[in-house]
Amino acid sequence: MNGSNAYTRARLSEEYIARDAANISPSYTRSYPFVMAQGRGSEVWDVDGRRYIDFTSGIAVTNTGHAHPEVVRAIVEQAERFIHMSGTDFYYPVQIELAEKLNEVAPITGATKVFFGNSGAEAVEAAMKLARYHTGRPRFVAFQGGFHGRTFGALSLTASKPVQRRGFAPLLPEVTHAIYPNPYRNPWPGRDPAQAALEYIEHLFRTTTPPEEVAAIIVEPIQGEGGYIVPPDGFLPGLRELCDRYGILLVLDEVQTGMGRTGKMFACEHWSVEPDILCVAKGIASGLPLGAIVARSEIMNWPPGAHASTFGGNPVSCAAALVTIRLLEDGLIEQARRHGEKLMARLQEIASRFPQVGDVRGKGLMVGVELVEDRESKRPAVRLRDEVIQEAFHKGLLMLGCGQSGLRFVPALNIPEALLDEGVNVFERALAEALEKVGGAL
Ligand SMILES: Cc1ncc(COP(=O)(O)O)c(C=O)c1O
Repeated sequence: MNGSNAYTRARLSEEYIARDAANISPSYTRSYPFVMAQGRGSEVWDVDGRRYIDFTSGIAVTNTGHAHPEVVRAIVEQAERFIHMSGTDFYYPVQIELAEKLNEVAPITGATKVFFGNSGAEAVEAAMKLARYHTGRPRFVAFQGGFHGRTFGALSLTASKPVQRRGFAPLLPEVTHAIYPNPYRNPWPGRDPAQAALEYIEHLFRTTTPPEEVAAIIVEPIQGEGGYIVPPDGFLPGLRELCDRYGILLVLDEVQTGMGRTGKMFACEHWSVEPDILCVAKGIASGLPLGAIVARSEIMNWPPGAHASTFGGNPVSCAAALVTIRLLEDGLIEQARRHGEKLMARLQEIASRFPQVGDVRGKGLMVGVELVEDRESKRPAVRLRDEVIQEAFHKGLLMLGCGQSGLRFVPALNIPEALLDEGVNVFERALAEALEKVGGAL
Protein backbone atom coordinates (compact mmCIF):
# COMPACT_ATOMS: atom_id res chain seq x y z
CA MET A 1 0.00 0.00 0.00
CA ASN A 2 1.10 3.53 -0.65
CA GLY A 3 1.42 5.42 2.64
CA SER A 4 0.59 8.77 1.04
CA ASN A 5 -2.95 7.71 0.11
CA ALA A 6 -3.75 6.74 3.69
CA TYR A 7 -6.44 9.35 4.17
CA THR A 8 -7.49 10.12 0.64
CA ARG A 9 -10.16 7.42 0.42
CA ALA A 10 -11.37 7.11 3.99
CA ARG A 11 -15.03 7.70 3.25
CA LEU A 12 -16.41 4.30 4.25
CA SER A 13 -14.15 3.98 7.29
CA GLU A 14 -15.24 7.40 8.51
CA GLU A 15 -18.89 6.54 8.01
CA TYR A 16 -18.58 3.31 9.98
CA ILE A 17 -16.66 5.01 12.78
CA ALA A 18 -19.37 7.67 13.10
CA ARG A 19 -22.03 4.91 13.30
CA ASP A 20 -19.90 3.05 15.85
CA ALA A 21 -19.62 6.17 18.01
CA ALA A 22 -23.39 6.60 17.94
CA ASN A 23 -24.16 2.99 18.81
CA ILE A 24 -21.35 1.22 20.61
CA SER A 25 -19.96 1.61 24.13
CA PRO A 26 -17.24 4.27 24.35
CA SER A 27 -15.26 2.04 26.75
CA TYR A 28 -13.37 0.29 23.93
CA THR A 29 -9.79 1.39 23.34
CA ARG A 30 -9.31 1.92 19.61
CA SER A 31 -5.93 3.54 18.83
CA TYR A 32 -6.51 4.26 15.14
CA PRO A 33 -9.33 4.17 12.59
CA PHE A 34 -8.89 0.67 11.15
CA VAL A 35 -12.24 -0.72 9.98
CA MET A 36 -11.63 -4.29 8.83
CA ALA A 37 -13.19 -5.70 5.70
CA GLN A 38 -11.21 -8.93 5.33
CA GLY A 39 -8.06 -10.76 6.24
CA ARG A 40 -5.88 -13.56 4.82
CA GLY A 41 -3.00 -14.87 6.87
CA SER A 42 -1.09 -11.84 8.13
CA GLU A 43 -2.54 -9.33 5.69
CA VAL A 44 -5.75 -7.40 6.30
CA TRP A 45 -7.76 -4.92 4.26
CA ASP A 46 -10.00 -2.14 5.47
CA VAL A 47 -13.41 -1.19 4.07
CA ASP A 48 -11.74 1.42 1.85
CA GLY A 49 -9.54 -1.23 0.24
CA ARG A 50 -6.28 -0.37 1.98
CA ARG A 51 -3.91 -3.21 2.82
CA TYR A 52 -2.08 -3.58 6.14
CA ILE A 53 0.34 -6.07 7.66
CA ASP A 54 -1.12 -7.34 10.92
CA PHE A 55 1.38 -7.44 13.79
CA THR A 56 -1.46 -7.73 16.35
CA SER A 57 -3.29 -10.94 15.35
CA GLY A 58 -6.34 -9.41 17.06
CA ILE A 59 -4.47 -9.17 20.39
CA ALA A 60 -2.61 -12.49 20.15
CA VAL A 61 -5.65 -14.48 19.05
CA THR A 62 -5.43 -15.44 15.37
CA ASN A 63 -2.31 -17.57 15.86
CA THR A 64 -2.92 -19.44 12.60
CA GLY A 65 -3.48 -16.20 10.67
CA HIS A 66 -6.76 -14.76 9.46
CA ALA A 67 -9.17 -17.23 7.89
CA HIS A 68 -6.81 -20.21 7.76
CA PRO A 69 -8.47 -22.50 5.18
CA GLU A 70 -8.35 -25.60 7.41
CA VAL A 71 -9.84 -23.68 10.34
CA VAL A 72 -12.56 -22.26 8.10
CA ARG A 73 -13.34 -25.74 6.74
CA ALA A 74 -13.64 -27.19 10.26
CA ILE A 75 -15.95 -24.33 11.31
CA VAL A 76 -18.20 -24.78 8.24
CA GLU A 77 -18.36 -28.55 8.58
CA GLN A 78 -19.28 -28.36 12.28
CA ALA A 79 -21.79 -25.52 11.70
CA GLU A 80 -23.50 -27.63 9.03
CA ARG A 81 -23.86 -30.50 11.51
CA PHE A 82 -25.05 -28.37 14.47
CA ILE A 83 -24.00 -25.03 15.99
CA HIS A 84 -25.13 -25.37 19.57
CA MET A 85 -26.46 -27.90 22.05
CA SER A 86 -25.04 -26.60 25.39
CA GLY A 87 -22.27 -28.77 26.71
CA THR A 88 -23.61 -27.99 30.17
CA ASP A 89 -26.66 -30.22 29.70
CA PHE A 90 -25.76 -32.52 26.80
CA TYR A 91 -22.76 -34.37 25.39
CA TYR A 92 -21.15 -33.92 21.98
CA PRO A 93 -18.04 -35.63 20.60
CA VAL A 94 -16.09 -32.56 19.50
CA GLN A 95 -16.04 -31.12 23.04
CA ILE A 96 -14.88 -34.42 24.50
CA GLU A 97 -12.19 -34.75 21.81
CA LEU A 98 -10.92 -31.24 22.55
CA ALA A 99 -10.84 -31.93 26.30
CA GLU A 100 -8.79 -35.07 25.64
CA LYS A 101 -6.41 -33.07 23.46
CA LEU A 102 -6.03 -30.26 26.02
CA ASN A 103 -5.36 -32.80 28.76
CA GLU A 104 -2.71 -34.34 26.53
CA VAL A 105 -0.88 -31.06 25.75
CA ALA A 106 -1.29 -29.37 29.16
CA PRO A 107 2.06 -29.16 30.96
CA ILE A 108 0.74 -30.99 34.02
CA THR A 109 1.93 -34.48 35.06
CA GLY A 110 -0.84 -36.95 35.88
CA ALA A 111 -4.55 -36.89 35.22
CA THR A 112 -6.23 -33.56 34.45
CA LYS A 113 -9.73 -32.32 33.62
CA VAL A 114 -11.04 -29.40 31.58
CA PHE A 115 -13.74 -26.81 32.22
CA PHE A 116 -14.88 -24.77 29.20
CA GLY A 117 -15.93 -21.12 29.08
CA ASN A 118 -15.95 -18.50 26.34
CA SER A 119 -13.15 -16.07 27.13
CA GLY A 120 -10.02 -15.37 29.10
CA ALA A 121 -11.91 -13.65 31.90
CA GLU A 122 -14.24 -16.64 32.21
CA ALA A 123 -11.27 -18.99 32.43
CA VAL A 124 -9.84 -16.84 35.24
CA GLU A 125 -13.21 -16.74 37.02
CA ALA A 126 -13.43 -20.52 36.81
CA ALA A 127 -9.88 -20.85 38.17
CA MET A 128 -10.67 -18.55 41.09
CA LYS A 129 -13.88 -20.35 41.96
CA LEU A 130 -12.27 -23.78 41.68
CA ALA A 131 -9.29 -22.72 43.81
CA ARG A 132 -11.60 -21.44 46.55
CA TYR A 133 -13.87 -24.47 46.32
CA HIS A 134 -11.05 -27.00 46.43
CA THR A 135 -8.94 -25.38 49.16
CA GLY A 136 -11.73 -23.85 51.24
CA ARG A 137 -9.46 -20.79 51.52
CA PRO A 138 -10.64 -17.24 50.73
CA ARG A 139 -7.57 -15.28 49.56
CA PHE A 140 -5.63 -14.77 46.34
CA VAL A 141 -2.23 -13.32 45.56
CA ALA A 142 -1.86 -11.63 42.17
CA PHE A 143 0.73 -9.19 40.77
CA GLN A 144 0.99 -5.49 40.07
CA GLY A 145 1.00 -4.96 36.32
CA GLY A 146 -0.99 -8.16 35.79
CA PHE A 147 -3.99 -8.40 33.49
CA HIS A 148 -6.54 -11.19 33.92
CA GLY A 149 -9.76 -9.76 32.48
CA ARG A 150 -12.56 -7.38 33.37
CA THR A 151 -15.33 -9.35 35.07
CA PHE A 152 -15.50 -8.64 38.79
CA GLY A 153 -13.44 -11.61 39.98
CA ALA A 154 -10.82 -11.29 37.24
CA LEU A 155 -10.80 -7.49 37.62
CA SER A 156 -9.96 -7.92 41.29
CA LEU A 157 -6.73 -9.58 40.14
CA THR A 158 -6.09 -7.18 37.25
CA ALA A 159 -3.70 -4.38 38.17
CA SER A 160 -2.20 -3.03 35.00
CA LYS A 161 -3.96 0.35 34.53
CA PRO A 162 -6.11 2.45 36.90
CA VAL A 163 -8.72 3.08 34.19
CA GLN A 164 -9.54 -0.64 34.25
CA ARG A 165 -10.49 -0.43 37.96
CA ARG A 166 -11.58 3.21 38.43
CA GLY A 167 -15.24 3.48 39.35
CA PHE A 168 -15.81 -0.25 39.89
CA ALA A 169 -15.00 -0.71 43.58
CA PRO A 170 -15.62 -2.60 45.74
CA LEU A 171 -13.88 -5.53 44.10
CA LEU A 172 -13.14 -8.87 45.76
CA PRO A 173 -11.67 -7.90 49.11
CA GLU A 174 -9.27 -10.79 49.66
CA VAL A 175 -6.78 -10.11 46.87
CA THR A 176 -3.21 -9.02 47.66
CA HIS A 177 -0.98 -7.70 44.88
CA ALA A 178 2.69 -8.62 45.01
CA ILE A 179 5.44 -7.15 42.83
CA TYR A 180 6.26 -8.75 39.48
CA PRO A 181 10.01 -8.92 38.92
CA ASN A 182 10.87 -6.74 35.94
CA PRO A 183 14.52 -7.22 34.97
CA TYR A 184 14.56 -3.96 32.96
CA ARG A 185 13.08 -1.85 35.75
CA ASN A 186 14.28 -3.73 38.79
CA PRO A 187 12.57 -2.21 41.85
CA TRP A 188 15.36 -3.73 43.98
CA PRO A 189 18.55 -2.37 42.34
CA GLY A 190 21.58 -4.53 42.96
CA ARG A 191 19.49 -7.56 43.93
CA ASP A 192 18.25 -10.53 41.93
CA PRO A 193 14.68 -9.36 41.20
CA ALA A 194 13.28 -12.91 41.24
CA GLN A 195 14.65 -13.60 44.70
CA ALA A 196 13.53 -10.19 45.98
CA ALA A 197 10.02 -10.65 44.54
CA LEU A 198 9.69 -14.05 46.23
CA GLU A 199 10.92 -12.64 49.54
CA TYR A 200 8.38 -9.83 49.23
CA ILE A 201 5.59 -12.41 48.99
CA GLU A 202 6.89 -14.02 52.17
CA HIS A 203 6.89 -10.57 53.74
CA LEU A 204 3.20 -10.27 52.77
CA PHE A 205 2.61 -13.68 54.36
CA ARG A 206 4.13 -12.35 57.61
CA THR A 207 2.13 -9.09 57.57
CA THR A 208 -1.14 -8.79 55.64
CA THR A 209 -1.87 -12.16 54.06
CA PRO A 210 -1.80 -15.34 56.18
CA PRO A 211 -0.57 -18.03 53.76
CA GLU A 212 -2.86 -20.71 55.19
CA GLU A 213 -5.78 -18.54 53.99
CA VAL A 214 -4.43 -18.19 50.42
CA ALA A 215 -6.23 -20.37 47.89
CA ALA A 216 -4.04 -19.51 44.91
CA ILE A 217 -1.24 -17.42 43.53
CA ILE A 218 -2.31 -16.32 40.06
CA VAL A 219 0.34 -15.16 37.63
CA GLU A 220 1.09 -14.61 33.95
CA PRO A 221 4.31 -16.50 33.04
CA ILE A 222 5.15 -13.45 30.90
CA GLN A 223 3.20 -10.29 31.70
CA GLY A 224 1.23 -9.26 28.61
CA GLU A 225 -0.89 -6.11 28.85
CA GLY A 226 1.47 -4.96 31.64
CA GLY A 227 4.37 -4.61 29.20
CA TYR A 228 5.56 -7.95 27.76
CA ILE A 229 7.77 -8.54 30.77
CA VAL A 230 9.74 -11.78 30.83
CA PRO A 231 10.54 -12.57 34.47
CA PRO A 232 14.01 -13.71 35.53
CA ASP A 233 14.56 -17.48 35.39
CA GLY A 234 14.22 -18.08 39.14
CA PHE A 235 10.78 -16.51 39.47
CA LEU A 236 8.31 -19.16 38.32
CA PRO A 237 10.21 -22.10 39.88
CA GLY A 238 10.38 -20.04 43.10
CA LEU A 239 6.62 -19.45 43.02
CA ARG A 240 6.07 -23.17 42.55
CA GLU A 241 8.18 -23.89 45.65
CA LEU A 242 6.39 -21.23 47.67
CA CYS A 243 3.00 -22.68 46.71
CA ASP A 244 4.09 -26.21 47.62
CA ARG A 245 5.43 -25.04 50.98
CA TYR A 246 2.13 -23.43 52.02
CA GLY A 247 -0.39 -25.70 50.26
CA ILE A 248 -1.35 -22.90 47.86
CA LEU A 249 -2.48 -23.64 44.29
CA LEU A 250 -0.42 -22.17 41.46
CA VAL A 251 -2.71 -20.80 38.73
CA LEU A 252 -0.90 -19.88 35.53
CA ASP A 253 -2.81 -17.45 33.32
CA GLU A 254 -1.61 -18.49 29.87
CA VAL A 255 -4.47 -16.72 28.12
CA GLN A 256 -2.00 -14.63 26.11
CA THR A 257 1.21 -16.68 26.39
CA GLY A 258 -0.35 -20.07 25.62
CA MET A 259 -1.10 -22.01 22.45
CA GLY A 260 2.32 -21.77 20.84
CA ARG A 261 2.74 -18.02 21.15
CA THR A 262 6.14 -18.16 22.90
CA GLY A 263 7.65 -20.96 20.83
CA LYS A 264 6.41 -23.69 23.18
CA MET A 265 2.82 -24.85 23.56
CA PHE A 266 2.75 -23.10 26.96
CA ALA A 267 5.18 -20.47 28.25
CA CYS A 268 5.70 -22.22 31.60
CA GLU A 269 7.49 -24.98 29.69
CA HIS A 270 10.42 -22.55 29.24
CA TRP A 271 11.01 -22.90 32.98
CA SER A 272 9.73 -26.50 33.42
CA VAL A 273 7.15 -25.29 35.93
CA GLU A 274 3.81 -27.09 36.23
CA PRO A 275 0.68 -25.24 37.33
CA ASP A 276 -2.14 -26.74 39.37
CA ILE A 277 -4.63 -24.87 37.22
CA LEU A 278 -3.90 -23.57 33.72
CA CYS A 279 -6.00 -20.81 32.09
CA VAL A 280 -6.22 -20.67 28.28
CA ALA A 281 -8.26 -18.65 25.79
CA LYS A 282 -7.26 -16.17 23.03
CA GLY A 283 -5.23 -18.28 20.53
CA ILE A 284 -6.89 -21.59 21.30
CA ALA A 285 -9.53 -21.49 18.54
CA SER A 286 -7.90 -19.17 15.97
CA GLY A 287 -10.44 -16.41 16.64
CA LEU A 288 -13.62 -18.14 17.77
CA PRO A 289 -14.60 -17.46 21.39
CA LEU A 290 -13.36 -20.18 23.70
CA GLY A 291 -11.73 -20.28 27.11
CA ALA A 292 -10.77 -23.19 29.29
CA ILE A 293 -9.07 -24.23 32.46
CA VAL A 294 -7.13 -27.44 32.80
CA ALA A 295 -6.66 -28.61 36.39
CA ARG A 296 -5.29 -31.65 38.10
CA SER A 297 -8.19 -34.11 38.39
CA GLU A 298 -8.10 -34.27 42.18
CA ILE A 299 -8.43 -30.47 42.27
CA MET A 300 -11.42 -30.36 39.92
CA ASN A 301 -13.64 -32.00 42.53
CA TRP A 302 -16.70 -29.75 42.41
CA PRO A 303 -20.15 -31.35 42.05
CA PRO A 304 -22.70 -31.02 39.22
CA GLY A 305 -24.19 -27.53 39.24
CA ALA A 306 -21.23 -25.86 40.96
CA HIS A 307 -20.11 -24.13 37.77
CA ALA A 308 -21.29 -24.18 34.15
CA SER A 309 -21.87 -22.03 31.06
CA THR A 310 -24.48 -22.16 28.28
CA PHE A 311 -22.09 -21.37 25.45
CA GLY A 312 -18.80 -22.53 27.00
CA GLY A 313 -17.04 -25.04 24.76
CA ASN A 314 -19.55 -24.62 21.96
CA PRO A 315 -19.10 -27.17 19.16
CA VAL A 316 -17.95 -24.74 16.46
CA SER A 317 -15.24 -23.24 18.68
CA CYS A 318 -14.16 -26.73 19.74
CA ALA A 319 -13.85 -27.82 16.10
CA ALA A 320 -11.72 -24.74 15.35
CA ALA A 321 -9.56 -25.44 18.41
CA LEU A 322 -8.88 -29.05 17.43
CA VAL A 323 -7.58 -27.92 14.03
CA THR A 324 -5.62 -25.08 15.63
CA ILE A 325 -3.82 -27.45 18.01
CA ARG A 326 -3.04 -29.84 15.14
CA LEU A 327 -1.54 -26.98 13.13
CA LEU A 328 0.48 -25.88 16.16
CA GLU A 329 1.87 -29.38 16.64
CA ASP A 330 2.53 -29.81 12.92
CA GLY A 331 4.99 -26.93 12.72
CA LEU A 332 3.51 -23.60 13.85
CA ILE A 333 5.13 -23.68 17.29
CA GLU A 334 8.51 -24.33 15.71
CA GLN A 335 7.83 -21.52 13.22
CA ALA A 336 7.01 -19.17 16.10
CA ARG A 337 10.32 -20.03 17.75
CA ARG A 338 12.38 -19.48 14.59
CA HIS A 339 10.56 -16.32 13.52
CA GLY A 340 10.76 -14.99 17.06
CA GLU A 341 14.54 -15.34 17.08
CA LYS A 342 14.75 -13.55 13.76
CA LEU A 343 12.40 -10.79 14.90
CA MET A 344 14.34 -10.22 18.15
CA ALA A 345 17.63 -10.02 16.21
CA ARG A 346 16.19 -7.45 13.79
CA LEU A 347 14.75 -5.37 16.62
CA GLN A 348 18.04 -5.51 18.55
CA GLU A 349 19.82 -4.31 15.44
CA ILE A 350 17.36 -1.39 15.22
CA ALA A 351 17.96 -0.72 18.93
CA SER A 352 21.68 -0.36 18.23
CA ARG A 353 20.85 2.64 16.02
CA PHE A 354 17.99 4.17 18.07
CA PRO A 355 18.84 4.97 21.70
CA GLN A 356 15.12 5.43 22.36
CA VAL A 357 14.66 1.66 22.04
CA GLY A 358 15.42 0.92 25.67
CA ASP A 359 14.69 -2.79 25.75
CA VAL A 360 13.82 -5.61 23.36
CA ARG A 361 12.46 -8.71 25.08
CA GLY A 362 10.22 -11.68 24.63
CA LYS A 363 9.97 -15.32 23.73
CA GLY A 364 8.84 -16.77 20.42
CA LEU A 365 6.47 -14.35 18.72
CA MET A 366 5.53 -12.56 21.93
CA VAL A 367 8.01 -9.73 21.60
CA GLY A 368 7.95 -6.32 23.25
CA VAL A 369 9.93 -3.15 22.68
CA GLU A 370 10.07 -0.50 25.38
CA LEU A 371 10.65 3.08 24.24
CA VAL A 372 12.47 5.45 26.59
CA GLU A 373 13.69 9.05 26.54
CA ASP A 374 17.24 7.80 26.96
CA ARG A 375 18.91 4.62 28.18
CA GLU A 376 20.32 6.17 31.34
CA SER A 377 17.13 7.64 32.83
CA LYS A 378 14.88 4.96 31.24
CA ARG A 379 12.04 7.48 31.48
CA PRO A 380 9.11 6.01 29.50
CA ALA A 381 8.67 7.73 26.11
CA VAL A 382 4.88 7.57 26.10
CA ARG A 383 4.25 10.22 23.40
CA LEU A 384 6.83 8.64 21.13
CA ARG A 385 5.24 5.19 21.56
CA ASP A 386 1.78 6.54 20.74
CA GLU A 387 3.14 8.39 17.70
CA VAL A 388 4.96 5.28 16.42
CA ILE A 389 1.66 3.38 16.49
CA GLN A 390 -0.03 6.15 14.47
CA GLU A 391 2.84 6.40 11.97
CA ALA A 392 2.95 2.63 11.54
CA PHE A 393 -0.79 2.65 10.82
CA HIS A 394 -0.43 5.37 8.18
CA LYS A 395 2.30 3.31 6.55
CA GLY A 396 0.25 0.09 6.49
CA LEU A 397 1.22 -1.74 9.69
CA LEU A 398 -1.12 -2.59 12.57
CA MET A 399 0.56 -2.47 15.98
CA LEU A 400 -0.56 -2.37 19.61
CA GLY A 401 0.93 -0.85 22.74
CA CYS A 402 1.42 -2.46 26.14
CA GLY A 403 2.63 -1.24 29.51
CA GLN A 404 3.47 2.45 29.82
CA SER A 405 5.61 2.91 26.72
CA GLY A 406 5.81 -0.56 25.20
CA LEU A 407 4.98 -1.87 21.76
CA ARG A 408 3.96 -5.46 21.19
CA PHE A 409 4.94 -7.54 18.22
CA VAL A 410 2.46 -10.43 18.10
CA PRO A 411 1.95 -11.47 14.49
CA ALA A 412 0.34 -14.76 13.53
CA LEU A 413 2.69 -17.67 14.23
CA ASN A 414 2.72 -18.56 10.51
CA ILE A 415 3.53 -15.07 9.23
CA PRO A 416 5.67 -15.49 6.10
CA GLU A 417 9.25 -14.28 6.55
CA ALA A 418 8.86 -11.70 3.77
CA LEU A 419 5.90 -10.10 5.57
CA LEU A 420 7.73 -10.14 8.89
CA ASP A 421 10.65 -8.30 7.24
CA GLU A 422 8.32 -5.87 5.48
CA GLY A 423 6.53 -5.10 8.76
CA VAL A 424 9.75 -4.54 10.70
CA ASN A 425 10.97 -2.18 7.95
CA VAL A 426 7.73 -0.21 8.27
CA PHE A 427 8.19 -0.12 12.05
CA GLU A 428 11.69 1.30 11.65
CA ARG A 429 10.49 4.03 9.27
CA ALA A 430 7.59 4.80 11.62
CA LEU A 431 10.01 5.12 14.54
CA ALA A 432 12.26 7.50 12.59
CA GLU A 433 9.34 9.68 11.53
CA ALA A 434 7.69 9.65 14.94
CA LEU A 435 10.98 10.84 16.44
CA GLU A 436 11.06 13.74 14.00
CA LYS A 437 7.44 14.55 14.78
CA VAL A 438 7.60 14.60 18.56
CA GLY A 439 10.96 16.42 18.56
CA GLY A 440 12.37 16.69 22.07
CA ALA A 441 9.08 15.94 23.87
CA LEU A 442 9.20 12.17 23.95
C1 LIG B 1 -3.25 -12.79 30.43
C2 LIG B 1 -4.69 -12.48 30.15
N1 LIG B 1 -5.65 -13.00 30.94
C3 LIG B 1 -6.95 -12.75 30.74
C4 LIG B 1 -7.37 -11.94 29.71
C5 LIG B 1 -8.82 -11.67 29.51
O1 LIG B 1 -9.25 -12.30 28.36
P1 LIG B 1 -10.66 -11.89 27.69
O2 LIG B 1 -10.47 -10.52 27.11
O3 LIG B 1 -10.87 -12.96 26.65
O4 LIG B 1 -11.68 -11.92 28.76
C6 LIG B 1 -6.41 -11.37 28.86
C7 LIG B 1 -6.83 -10.47 27.77
O5 LIG B 1 -6.07 -9.70 27.23
C8 LIG B 1 -5.03 -11.65 29.08
O6 LIG B 1 -4.09 -11.11 28.32
